[in-house]
Amino acid sequence: MKPQFGDALPGLTKAQMATFLDGKDDFEDTETEAGGLGPIFNRSSCVTCHNASATGGASPINVTRFGRMENGVFNPLASLGGSLQQEMEINSVLHEVVPPEANVVAHRNSTPLFGLGLIEAIPDNEILRNVRRTPVDGVLGKVSKVADAATGKMLIGRFGWKSQQATLLSFAGDAYLNEMGITSRLFPVENAPNGNSKLLEQYDTVADPEDVVDPTTGRGDIDRVADYMRFLGAPPRLPPTNGASVGRSVFQNTGCAVCHVPLMITGPNKIAALSQQQVWLFSDLLLHDMGSLGDGIAQGTADVRDMRTAPLWGLRASAPYLHDGRAANVDEAIKAHDGEAKASKDRYMRLNKQQVQQLIEFLMSI
Ligand code: HEC
Ligand code: HEC
Repeated sequence: MKPQFGDALPGLTKAQMATFLDGKDDFEDTETEAGGLGPIFNRSSCVTCHNASATGGASPINVTRFGRMENGVFNPLASLGGSLQQEMEINSVLHEVVPPEANVVAHRNSTPLFGLGLIEAIPDNEILRNVRRTPVDGVLGKVSKVADAATGKMLIGRFGWKSQQATLLSFAGDAYLNEMGITSRLFPVENAPNGNSKLLEQYDTVADPEDVVDPTTGRGDIDRVADYMRFLGAPPRLPPTNGASVGRSVFQNTGCAVCHVPLMITGPNKIAALSQQQVWLFSDLLLHDMGSLGDGIAQGTADVRDMRTAPLWGLRASAPYLHDGRAANVDEAIKAHDGEAKASKDRYMRLNKQQVQQLIEFLMSI
């Protein structure tokens, strides 16, 4: 059968396939108040925000981040519940709002998770190699450095719009806490609504950590869901049409591939399906100063205008585009490029109609 969005990686062992399906169940599970959901949260299951084309995909759902920019310094307003807002709650008295102190509000669109195990398996050195000492076409790029919660190591970030996480286990723990209000051994502290710890105390009745660890396996939801994402296959590519083949050279000649690096290779890995594999992700996984396209939020080592080069694989299934979903189609997404991507965007603007068509045909096939 032809590969589909949402399939497991090819070449998994029987046991790995069972782990994939087991983790998928948890990913699709709706969490309940008794099971630790909330007190404040954004949605009650992972799949609600990750489902386009198949479980694990993108969605048009945005989350909201806020903070305060003062004298050129970004303050995430952590003591007021920032920078991520939780827009839902188990009781309306807990409702979290964007506080009046915030002068930056940004929206973040849900991304697809296909192929993330392959991205995790790319060695830090491969990503470092993409950083330029002198600008090429105005492009430099820098790595995001992350103190990884799961491993306790300093690693190169690669997940999220700001490359703010380095491993799938850490992202799973982060998402369980910050999207669903479920604490775990990695993230044991609940979010207080707009920082109000008295209110939290009153309504937070489930003991932390809420993620229940199975005594026989020593694994919780965060571990099972991390493995599900690790074993989720890459987006399937379409056979290249004539237009798409020409579009591929347009992509190169327009300078898109300087940041949207077509191919990286995973390192040696104890999971054979992830070991020394080609990853056609179309990203350098670096942060770039995107000028006016930056979202105004500083996060980890990513500054306010820095954004991660979005991987372009599977693009045909992940509209709307850009970090806040402002672009309904690829043409609008490219036209919003700025900062380090300005030279390339300007070249795009000078393409003729047929070249634009071919470029888009290519992008919709990868
Ligand atoms: C309310 C919607 C929502 C829910 C629920 C949600 N996510 Fe997400 N997810 C997002 C958004 C928005 C982003 C992009 C966030 C960012 O980079 O700031 C994201 C990004 C991710 C990424 C990074 C993907 C990449 O492109 O690098 C992972 C991994 C992820 N989510 C896993 C999960 C898991 C696991 C769960 C359940 C525990 C979950 N998400 C629940 C909205 C959601
Ligand atoms: C300087 C690096 C850079 C260059 C050059 C560049 N991009 Fe991007 N691209 C990015 C970044 C960073 C993002 C994420 C921007 C955001 O939403 O904040 C992005 C996002 C995109 C998106 C939206 C992806 C999504 O999932 O929402 C598309 C499509 C895209 N780029 C295509 C192109 C094309 C085509 C070219 C060449 C004309 C190009 N890019 C040149 C860095 C670059």
